[in-house]
Amino acid sequence: MKETIISVKSLVKIYTMGDVEVHALRGVNVDIRQGDFVAIMGKSGSGKSTFMNILGCLDVPTRGQYMLDGVDVSSLTKDQLANLRNRKIGFVFQSFNLLSRTTAIENVELPLLYNKKISSKEMLERSLNALEAVGLSDRGHHFPNQLSGGEQQRVAIARSLVNDPVVILADEPTGNLDTRTSLEVMAIFQKLNRKGITVVIVTHEPDIAAFTSRNITFRDGRIIRAIDVESPRIASEELLTMPVTVEDEV
Ligand SMILES: Nc1ncnc2c1ncn2[C@@H]1O[C@H](COP(=O)(O)OP(=O)(O)OP(=O)(O)O)[C@@H](O)[C@H]1O
Ligand SMILES: [Mg+2]
Repeated sequence: MKETIISVKSLVKIYTMGDVEVHALRGVNVDIRQGDFVAIMGKSGSGKSTFMNILGCLDVPTRGQYMLDGVDVSSLTKDQLANLRNRKIGFVFQSFNLLSRTTAIENVELPLLYNKKISSKEMLERSLNALEAVGLSDRGHHFPNQLSGGEQQRVAIARSLVNDPVVILADEPTGNLDTRTSLEVMAIFQKLNRKGITVVIVTHEPDIAAFTSRNITFRDGRIIRAIDVESPRIASEELLTMPVTVEDEV
């Protein structure tokens, strides 16, 4: 039995805005194990991002328990949360969130700057290794505006990897990408997942969820469905046979 990395029990999140309460999560229970590749699905407003932000220690629940890699997150102070986030979690965002005046190598180094024990030589080495893992060894000196959307997202994935996180969390990582580029990004997530990295993504698209091994569907702040995917599609194979379409050329 694989180790449970994320364990969530009776998770509730209520946003209060003046007199109005928004019940974004209404009692979520889920375990995610080492090596899982999970897609979180569900309609707009169903609570997916709220859930991911709590998993990523960017926000705290109103009630309920969250254990991350054996640590009870609800008992931590703000500083401890930030520290846990930096050591254990890699983030990938829909809009890449790269620093525009900074090269790919430097963008990937960013999460390491918090760690005063790492020398600049080691930072560079780790950044180059992470860029290699996403197939961008030859783009290290490019600035974000000198990279395609898919390449920018791969730099963001390299940045999420550089701290050896226990889990990578990605909220709609293919939301801004065309079909082929989405496949490239899914191929990278699948490769990292095969190496044992746990990956959780949010996606609206069943076609993207089909590349993961477990699909969890939210509705109105609750999980209404959780299934194992029988035989996930393999992105690297589909890329090889994918015809070049007009969409790719625009
Ligand atoms: N900071 C906030 N303050 C108040 N309400 C919020 C806040 N963030 C989200 N909500 C509300 O909580 C509910 C869940 O929002 P959430 O962003 O988690 O949905 P989502 O499933 O990620 O949707 P989408 O697919 O559109 O990204 C929505 O009703 C939303 O309006
Ligand atoms: Mg969202």
